[in-house]
Amino acid sequence: MAGSKLHFLELFSFMFSCSLLASASAVSLKVGFYAEICPSAETIVRKAVNEVVSRNPGMAAGLIRMYFHDCFVRGCDASVLLSSLPGNPPAERDHPANNPSLRGFEVIDEAKARIEALCPGTVSCADIIAFAARDSTYKAGGIYYAVPAGRRDGRVSISDEVLQNLPPPFFNATQLAQTFARKGMSVDEMVTLSGAHSIGVAHCSSFSNRLYSFNATHAQDPSLDPNYAAFLKTRCPPPPPGAGGDLTTTVPLDAITPNQLDNKYYSELRHRRGLLTSDQTLMDSGLTSRMVLHNGRNGAGWARKFARAMVHMGSLDVLTGTQGEIRRICSVPN
Ligand code: HEM
Ligand SMILES: *[C@@H]1O[C@H](CO)[C@@H](O)[C@H](O)[C@H]1NC(C)=O
Ligand SMILES: *[C@@H]1O[C@H](CO)[C@@H](O)[C@H](O)[C@H]1NC(C)=O
Repeated sequence: MAGSKLHFLELFSFMFSCSLLASASAVSLKVGFYAEICPSAETIVRKAVNEVVSRNPGMAAGLIRMYFHDCFVRGCDASVLLSSLPGNPPAERDHPANNPSLRGFEVIDEAKARIEALCPGTVSCADIIAFAARDSTYKAGGIYYAVPAGRRDGRVSISDEVLQNLPPPFFNATQLAQTFARKGMSVDEMVTLSGAHSIGVAHCSSFSNRLYSFNATHAQDPSLDPNYAAFLKTRCPPPPPGAGGDLTTTVPLDAITPNQLDNKYYSELRHRRGLLTSDQTLMDSGLTSRMVLHNGRNGAGWARKFARAMVHMGSLDVLTGTQGEIRRICSVPN
């Protein structure tokens, strides 16, 4: 008798925790999530971003890229911020796609510290990244959107997961489309978000194969404007044999308006001045060339799509409700 009662209780508590889990995963992000529990959260992030970006416009690029790199690997859970721990496999942050090129960590840490002083244990690092990317988008491009929030922070970050989820710069349009499709994002969203490459920089190592070692028949990538290639060669000397390329020198991704988040990127592609293979391929592939031309002609339309796609990207595989945690320090799990 006692036995069956125990079973009944166990079954009941099992069902109860299942329904808790189900409701936790059904919680969705919402605009104004911190309005009651930490009303100044979004203002604090905006101030921190504005201060830094006014001094160093490139930081806006860094923060927008950080959001992409967070959301595509394990969802938008701030896994990109976790430091590698001794005795564990390296974290995302130390993958070559992030280290040393990903920037803006200290902006997130500063905003987090100011928020913790006011509302401890309330605002996730994942939401701070999302707010900072929005504020950067506004500062660099005058493009504004509301950010649905309520993300929670993950406790796991694994370097090996980066390459399975983030596209490398040598991918062609078909491969890029596949990478985004695996996240439930459309080809048009991929082309639209690539417009983020209208700001910021790339290291020579990300494209010098296009200048010196393209393939067996062409040293230089024939899809690259020869004058632009000649300029790039002055910035990026040939890497010594066996080396992966210059990891310190950078070149603007958009030569014309490098600090302005705008649709000039797409006109540059038309003139064969896309810096990365993954940029130029969007113009050269039948899958995407019409989208490039359309975005190049319609700046306001592109900006609206960019805002929508940023919001969509921010919803990928998020932790909500009672999942994950609110990290106290963004670089370490609690
Ligand atoms: C479509 C596939 C993409 C590929 C293959 C790609 C690849 C890259 C690479 C290789 C760099 C230069 C890294 C370096 O050498 O320092 C870069 C920079 C950048 N990416 Fe992407 N990216 C892609 C999509 C995106 C998306 C979706 C966003 C955000 C919406 C984004 C935002 C940026 C920004 C802003 C920079 C400049 C960063 C800085 O100046 O610190 N990228 N990307
Ligand atoms: C894109 O890359 C894949 C994998 O390398 C290749 O199979 C495909 O043919 C390429 N597509 C185009 C259009 O070049
Ligand atoms: C090298 O690239 C060019 C231009 O994309 C292409 O036409 C050619 O077939 C490629 N050669 C080899 C050997 O892959």
